[in-house]
Amino acid sequence: MCGIVGYIGEKNTKDILLSGLKELEYRGYDSAGIAVLQDGDFQSYKAVGKLVNLEEKTKDFITDKFAVGIGHTRWATHGKPTELNAHPHLGESSYVVHNGIIENYAELKQELTNEGVTFLSQTDTEVIVHQFEKNLKLTNTAFEAFKQTIHELHGAYAILLVTKSEEKTIFFAKNGSPMLVGINAEDEKYFASSDTPLIGHCSDVNYFEDGDYGYVTNDAIIMYDKENRAKEPSFKKLSTNKLSAQKDGYRFFMEKEIYEQSSVIADTLLGRLTDKEVVFDELPASLFEGINEIKLCACGTSYHSAISASYMFERYSKVKTSVEVASEFRYREPIMSKDTLFVVISQSGETADTLETLKMAKRAGLKTLVICNVDNSSMVRLADAFILTRAGVEKGVASTKAFASQVTIFWMLSIYLAKRNDTLNQDEISRQIRLMREIPSSVKVSDDMHEKIKRLSKRYLHGHGFFFIGRDVFFPLALEGALKLKEISYLHAEGYPSGEMKHGPIALADPELFTIALLPQHLLYEKSRSNVEELSARDSTICAISPIEFDKADDYIKTKTHEDYMLEFFEMMLVVQLLSLEISVRLGNDVDMPRNLAKSVTVE
Ligand code: M6R
Repeated sequence: MCGIVGYIGEKNTKDILLSGLKELEYRGYDSAGIAVLQDGDFQSYKAVGKLVNLEEKTKDFITDKFAVGIGHTRWATHGKPTELNAHPHLGESSYVVHNGIIENYAELKQELTNEGVTFLSQTDTEVIVHQFEKNLKLTNTAFEAFKQTIHELHGAYAILLVTKSEEKTIFFAKNGSPMLVGINAEDEKYFASSDTPLIGHCSDVNYFEDGDYGYVTNDAIIMYDKENRAKEPSFKKLSTNKLSAQKDGYRFFMEKEIYEQSSVIADTLLGRLTDKEVVFDELPASLFEGINEIKLCACGTSYHSAISASYMFERYSKVKTSVEVASEFRYREPIMSKDTLFVVISQSGETADTLETLKMAKRAGLKTLVICNVDNSSMVRLADAFILTRAGVEKGVASTKAFASQVTIFWMLSIYLAKRNDTLNQDEISRQIRLMREIPSSVKVSDDMHEKIKRLSKRYLHGHGFFFIGRDVFFPLALEGALKLKEISYLHAEGYPSGEMKHGPIALADPELFTIALLPQHLLYEKSRSNVEELSARDSTICAISPIEFDKADDYIKTKTHEDYMLEFFEMMLVVQLLSLEISVRLGNDVDMPRNLAKSVTVE
């Protein structure tokens, strides 16, 4: 999804903007641009496609003195991915970059057009710069004009604006889309829509809150809140660790992230287990008081982990649990009762639909909890309580280690609640904890397994579709396996509960229909096996993933024998992730940045 960077200082502004945009590349984009104001003159460059095209266009552009600059990677919402639609957008003497959606842009555009303004792009963003320049003619200062403009916009935005009428200033506003400003000892100021571009440049950062707006010069940050009250920035130390942002010799970030899952889960568990209980120091003691029900809400992969949680919460903790897709929940006028704990799950903590459901729950007076990978993200800052998944920066658009860490947290939380609710005896709680400690070894990728999947992948490059099937928690894993394959191979895949096949989908069975069957030993093995036999009898090509050899399968990926189905879950997760990866590699696709997808979906 779109990314923003900004800079005020004396260093090489062009390089700082381009390297900042590079850090945001993984979020997905289809065009990029920068605008730099130096010696009273603007230079702006835009290019469709990858950043390398913008780098090529700017190779003779030199920024060697004090300048202010803004940059943007665009993921098209209003208007095609063309150079004209790429940001920054120009007025007469100002440029703007914007993430989010201006909902009233059509009305504003109509008024401005009636007044004689010519629009060059099809974007909603362009109205911001024209509205600002209209206001500039009516008010005394650029800041007054900017403030008035912000108050005229409806929707979600993170905005940076630079103008010749205030040469040493960047104007900013944030509402619904993330943005932060960073400082250092050299009096430089950096802006970005997430903290990665600032690592290594800034010592401290301020995360803007919804409604914040103001301006920044090289020696001041002037800020107001949504009630127009002056506000001091609240700086936090920025981490200096960029190691995780590199590929470490793996072919793709996704591959590295699959391999990392063992250490990631060890981190997720760290300090949260004793032999007798699961400990979440970060949870207020009162969080579960008066709670009779849990509602989980998320999108995509995070939604799949939420479904797995619903099985565990009901099975182990005996708490009534329901799961919702965030984009549906927000518009279906749901009934929200105060004895429900509202839990949102998000890798990024910025997904627009999920964030909105969190706001709805808060407005309805429910207690809220977020399971999230990004500290200081919008959701973490908003929820009553949060649990960080500690997966580290996830760069592959197709989520892997975030999912693994989310399911781990849910398993832990279900046992934490089982202890609290007295729904499992101490022996069973201790056994569950012992099993959790085995997750890191169950998700270690062995050379044999990876080699086998690599070889097998060549047989799954065609056909008219894939069914991933499983029962119980292996159903959300089937959904997740199908999503992974779809995202990076562009092949059609669906996840189904194994028992559902005969209610319709089995009509598609033939040799060109590939069934990826999750057959754990310790959960409904016989039932699942019968479902696969039904598909096999109708000549679907079967790839069985199981510790138990299965003679009706065309292909068989043998997993280890584990003591419990949850450990089988984690190993099978690894198998479906690697299978998608290797199919995608054989098809020659861009594994880390699949077409049409964005890492962080900050628009609805
Ligand atoms: O950051 P979130 O977990 O809220 O993101 C939700 C989905 O957009 C995300 O899981 C998406 O489905 C991934 N591309 C899955 O690989």
